[in-house]
Amino acid sequence: DLPTTYNGTPRIAVIGGTGLESLENFHPVACLDIDTPWGKPSSPVTISEHPSPTTGKPTPVAFLARHGVHHQFAPHEVPARANIAALRSIGVRCVIAFSAAGSLQEAVKPRDFVVPDQVIDRTKGIRPFTFFEGGFVCHVPFADPFDAGVGKVVRKCGHSLEGEGVTLHDQGTVICMEGPQFSTRAESNMYRLWGGTVINMSVLPEAKLAAEAEMAYQMVVMSTDYDCWHDSGDVSVEMVMGHMKANAINARRFIGAVLDELSREEHADLVAAKHLEGGRKFGVSTH
Ligand code: ADE
Repeated sequence: DLPTTYNGTPRIAVIGGTGLESLENFHPVACLDIDTPWGKPSSPVTISEHPSPTTGKPTPVAFLARHGVHHQFAPHEVPARANIAALRSIGVRCVIAFSAAGSLQEAVKPRDFVVPDQVIDRTKGIRPFTFFEGGFVCHVPFADPFDAGVGKVVRKCGHSLEGEGVTLHDQGTVICMEGPQFSTRAESNMYRLWGGTVINMSVLPEAKLAAEAEMAYQMVVMSTDYDCWHDSGDVSVEMVMGHMKANAINARRFIGAVLDELSREEHADLVAAKHLEGGRKFGVSTH
């Protein structure tokens, strides 16, 4: 029964992955049913007002459940273009995206967090992955798929929780596979040789679309299993969900710390993605 309109501009959004279908510890003030030229997003967008820890001033934060409120969208079915377009249409310019992932490295234990800095695309081109098509050509830079400024804030906040049971890895390469099946053992071993740190099915095309939309995007990965290269037992949905549930409290604490920090006045330009404004115009080829 929340209001269906919101009279403000949320600059920050959280996209929740598996096991993070809502922001229970925040106080939603509106629930928006948004339509876009690319269809409806995977869930309504809820707006919460996060009080600034210094001034108490509320900062609006948008939340979207990537797989739907009832986890009804498999990774290859997530309407990523509608999700990014819906957030952009209400003013969001800064996205913190959470995702469960398998670990490809011994040092990244189940329930650890990784703030990755690189991605390897192993999706198969079946997901719609660009806003630029049908006569409108634009090639956006994607050498660094995550936003350095937002990443710095997220890492600092993660480390501030280390005494409270959060283990954070500051760097890593996410292998994004197509799914929905998990990898074969040979593939898993190959990804390790490629330098993969973690593997998921969700960072793409989301990160590419955010880049096209001039949004500052950083993923936070929650390790839920050792992928099947490891001899601790092959990954299963049960394993992923078990660790996710156990870790949801830490994830929500992590989000709270990031929102505390991003709602500070000193980050106003960062969350408005001022550094990205107009950056795409040189990607457009005109004819
Ligand atoms: N998501 C969670 N665990 C995963 C794994 N092992 N492979 C791909 N995606 C995952």
